[in-house]
Amino acid sequence: MHRFSRYCRESGKTIGFVPTMGALHEGHISLVNESTKANDITVVSIFINPAQFSEDEDFERYPRDYGGDIRKLRGLPRLPVDALFMPSVSDIYPDGYKTYVEVRGLSERLCGGFRPGHFTGVATVVLKLFNAVMPVRAYFGLKDYQQCVVIKKMVRDLNLDMEIVTCPTLRDHDGLAKSSRNIYLSAEQRPEAALIYRAMAEAREAVKDGTLKIEDIAPRLQETLLKSEAVTEIQYASAYDPRTLKETTEGKRFLIAVAVKIGTTRLIDNLMVEL
Ligand code: PAJ
Repeated sequence: MHRFSRYCRESGKTIGFVPTMGALHEGHISLVNESTKANDITVVSIFINPAQFSEDEDFERYPRDYGGDIRKLRGLPRLPVDALFMPSVSDIYPDGYKTYVEVRGLSERLCGGFRPGHFTGVATVVLKLFNAVMPVRAYFGLKDYQQCVVIKKMVRDLNLDMEIVTCPTLRDHDGLAKSSRNIYLSAEQRPEAALIYRAMAEAREAVKDGTLKIEDIAPRLQETLLKSEAVTEIQYASAYDPRTLKETTEGKRFLIAVAVKIGTTRLIDNLMVEL
């Protein structure tokens, strides 16, 4: 990977990079398209990163479809990607591996409260992938809003000479955000999962037309989400400051963010609100 990247850079070519965990869907492909538009070379990585899953999470059963992923990347109508980087777990974490990147504060909020160590695993692997690929730009989806904030902070704090480009969330027709984990949903759960988007969109419209106060977003979301028996747990659902990720009851610009379980499947989503 280093040799390829060095060769590209020495030839004066810009590298755009899209890190993924595979099981590629249109959300991932939208990031690839942004990269091929803006860079000479686009590199995609597929690496299911054990460091960002805790003991009781779905690392072992995380969807894997390497053949399907490669076909999708080769068959892109715009431009196929130039390189696919698929390191093994022992390439990234050889025996005796000891170094981790911790973005304090931001990592503990929202998902961090329910997935201890998750963002340290993400920041560590993303920095290692950046070092391997040496991109000028890297592309991340706003569906994982907290991940975008954590990675941007890491890039600033560690003086990485590159740009993080954040891209809008791709959704199914009923509003459900595309996610590799959606395949865990049963035929009965799948339509119910659209409630996450409907609840957030409804709260956003109500705040915009003045019938809901920001401090009432959390109870409104609770009420709407609990109407569905498919929702087995609400981990968080409220309005947050988009920079600090702290819960907020004021401001002209804030994030509505939700994490729920539908059966045993954990789904997250968010919407930015500008008043
Ligand atoms: P993964 O879940 O495979 O997502 C890879 C990238 O695709 C992330 O930037 C994510 O935000 C983006 N993405 C996922 N669903 C999307 C959607 N519906 N619309 C737009 N973009 C979407 O996120 C990870 O992998 C990992 O944490 C990783 C960054 C690769 C580090 O291991």
